[in-house]
Amino acid sequence: MRNNRLTIAKLLTFLLLACLNIFAAQVQEKEVALTELEKFYGTELKSTKKVVHPPYAWGDCTVCHADAKGEEDLIMDPPELCAMCHEAKDSKKFIHGPVAAGACTACHDPHESDNAKLLIASSINELCTACHQAKDEFLHTTTHIHPPVKDQCTNCHDPHTEDHLYQLKADGKKDLCVMCHVEKEVWINEVTDKHGALNRPRKCLECHDPHGSEHPKFLIKDTSKELCLTCHNQTLITDETGYKLQNIAKHLDKNPDWHGPILWGDCAACHNPHGSNNLRMLKKPFPRTFYESFDEDNYICFQCHDKAKIMDKNTTTATNFRNGSVNQHYVHVNKEKGRSCRACHDFHGTKEYPHHLRKKTKFGRISFPIRFIETESGGSCAPACHARRHYDKDKPIVNLK
Ligand code: HEC
Ligand code: HEC
Ligand code: HEC
Ligand code: HEC
Ligand code: HEC
Ligand code: HEC
Ligand code: HEC
Ligand code: HEC
Ligand code: HEC
Ligand code: HEC
Ligand code: HEC
Repeated sequence: MRNNRLTIAKLLTFLLLACLNIFAAQVQEKEVALTELEKFYGTELKSTKKVVHPPYAWGDCTVCHADAKGEEDLIMDPPELCAMCHEAKDSKKFIHGPVAAGACTACHDPHESDNAKLLIASSINELCTACHQAKDEFLHTTTHIHPPVKDQCTNCHDPHTEDHLYQLKADGKKDLCVMCHVEKEVWINEVTDKHGALNRPRKCLECHDPHGSEHPKFLIKDTSKELCLTCHNQTLITDETGYKLQNIAKHLDKNPDWHGPILWGDCAACHNPHGSNNLRMLKKPFPRTFYESFDEDNYICFQCHDKAKIMDKNTTTATNFRNGSVNQHYVHVNKEKGRSCRACHDFHGTKEYPHHLRKKTKFGRISFPIRFIETESGGSCAPACHARRHYDKDKPIVNLK
């Protein structure tokens, strides 16, 4: 009973108030006259709600209704009604369903409310998910929710209208993301080895779900490996140099002895999916060429493998690639014209030989087989036209020049 909330203002005389009290039963008949008085003196609306819509607070119901009690029709329907005083909410390219339908009151109480912006729900997310029930379920059942989504949908979506698809505040495929993740924008622009994935049509959304997912970092796939192989299941060509990249899915298929991090599904253990300043977007440096002057800081491998393997000239523990105590890793790698690990190892997967030794090594434009033979306490190889060379960790072998 909205009339009850309307009390006669302080400006009315005590007498008038008394009369009104006495003739309370007749107030209804006197309605028109009363409204005239209210209009003249103004009324004070005693609302118990935290937010009162000014035109309602003014008490002049006829701003919106054909009568003073709001029992009659509205003088016009929303959104035109609201547009008398508010700017249009459908002025941009993409208009939210209920706004397009003029259903302002699906979200706002036209009179009063306990919620900011006269909203009918106590939180924005409650408001949105009352209609978007699939998102309600998503919020309650998904393991990793993107924090701004948990906070409020309007961090990214305008509730009314916007120039970007889904009423997003900026293009949702990338511009929106880097509004908050500024550091990613800087990184992506500045790195020398850029990732072509970011030029794919869905950009950030090629890999991330903007709302959240079952996987850490809101990835759209279980593991970074699965994600990478959705694109690296073909020969891709680098944007900068036109270099033909190996088809990694096919390579892994044919070479089932996978390197540790790949076994556990983590390509991102070595590669930065957003690009980097190192060869092939590696997270840490790695030599770009077959021969490279040895520098311990140039090897991403030492993130996981003990550098003594390459640093200790003589050892009986750091590596099995030794002839007696002479570290063959040191001999091959640790010098001015050192061979990078790629001369002998493949970092993704291998098949023919143990220890991720590759079948063929690429030297300039040619590939030649290394012809590795494993023995109980060592092994031998005969790359290209070189004579076979042996190593044995227990009984050192003298190789003839
Ligand atoms: C800013 C415009 C506006 C003003 C001012 C306004 N109303 Fe309303 N009122 C509406 C709209 C819009 C609806 C329809 C609500 C809906 O769609 O659910 C409405 C509906 C009503 C209803 C129907 C029941 C309900 O709450 O949904 C009553 C009763 C009512 N108003 C009373 C009043 C009274 C009394 C006043 C003056 C104190 C008043 N209104 C002032 C816009 C207004
Ligand atoms: C007679 C003029 C008038 C009409 C008609 C009107 N409003 Fe308002 N409205 C105002 C004024 C004045 C304010 C307070 C100033 C402001 O915040 O812009 C306001 C504020 C609001 C606010 C913000 C409240 C807050 O907490 O900041 C919302 C939401 C709103 N109106 C919705 C509506 C809707 C929906 C309609 C149509 C059903 C409507 N208004 C019709 C005058 C009007
Ligand atoms: C889907 C729900 C929804 C609908 C439908 C809706 N609004 Fe809103 N409106 C909101 C939310 C949420 C906010 C608060 C936005 C914020 O705080 O960022 C808001 C804010 C407002 C405001 C105050 C701030 C501003 O943006 O100007 C006004 C005025 C307003 N709405 C008017 C309207 C009018 C008029 C309509 C109908 C044409 C309408 N709204 C339809 C959800 C809605
Ligand atoms: C009153 C019900 C209602 C409320 C409340 C509501 N929506 Fe909607 N929303 C709709 C309808 C209806 C559509 C249009 C559906 C369609 O086109 O398939 C829609 C469409 C959308 C779309 C575009 C979806 C698409 O597939 O095109 C987005 C995004 C959206 N709403 C976000 C929100 C957000 C954010 C809120 C809270 C601020 C919200 N909605 C509150 C009813 C609502
Ligand atoms: C971090 C920004 C962000 C927040 C916060 C956010 N969204 Fe979205 N939303 C997006 C982006 C980006 C898209 C476009 C997705 C695409 O193109 O596949 C989208 C699309 C949608 C769509 C249409 C496609 C779909 O997934 O069904 C709906 C509906 C939607 N959002 C609702 C919501 C609701 C409800 C909330 C709050 C619980 C919310 N969003 C919070 C960024 C956001
Ligand atoms: C409104 C600001 C905002 C927008 C827009 C936004 N994010 Fe976020 N995002 C955050 C906040 C806050 C966090 C949590 C803090 C953090 O880890 O940086 C976060 C976390 C993340 C994380 C996890 C970070 C971690 O280390 O666990 C990813 C991944 C992410 N956002 C991706 C995106 C993508 C992709 C988009 C675009 C679709 C996007 N974000 C848009 C604010 C935003
Ligand atoms: C090729 C897939 C891919 C694309 C495209 C992509 N990301 Fe990521 N993103 C990932 C992966 C995988 C991780 C997890 C990295 C890890 O575990 O080290 C990640 C992590 C993140 C993180 C968490 C912090 C970090 O760097 O580890 C943020 C924030 C993020 N991404 C934002 C973005 C934004 C913003 C975009 C678009 C500009 C984007 N991502 C594009 C795959 C991608
Ligand atoms: C959406 C498709 C897509 C996804 C997903 C994807 N990539 Fe790529 N990637 C590309 C394309 C296209 C190129 C070639 C263009 C370029 O980067 O120059 C490329 C290039 C590369 C390169 C060579 C970059 C260079 O220029 O040297 C590496 C390394 C790479 N990706 C690793 C990964 C890893 C690791 C993942 C998973 C975290 C991944 N990619 C996920 C599309 C993708
Ligand atoms: C242990 C670290 C490591 C892991 C894990 C790893 N990579 Fe690599 N990746 C490298 C190194 C080192 C290179 C540079 C190889 C070279 O130039 O000889 C490389 C090169 C590449 C290339 C360029 C190949 C070419 O043709 O030159 C692509 C594409 C690539 N990786 C994708 C992936 C994908 C996809 C995964 C996950 C299935 C993955 N990498 C996991 C270390 C790793
Ligand atoms: C000249 C060829 C060659 C080069 C270059 C090479 N390795 Fe090896 N590596 C081997 C051989 C052969 C074995 C097998 C030793 C055995 O168990 O008999 C091996 C074994 C390994 C092992 C297994 C543990 C061990 O040491 O026995 C790791 C790890 C390893 N190498 C890492 C590296 C890293 C990192 C680089 C580059 C910094 C590198 N290798 C360079 C030939 C090479
Ligand atoms: C993120 C950690 C990580 C990084 C970085 C890494 N590895 Fe490994 N590597 C492993 C794990 C775990 C194993 C054991 C499982 C296996 O045999 O693949 C392993 C095993 C190996 C083996 C075989 C050991 C054996 O006895 O069979 C070789 C060779 C090897 N790595 C070489 C390299 C080279 C060369 C690099 C640098 C390009 C590198 N690794 C970088 C984690 C890593």
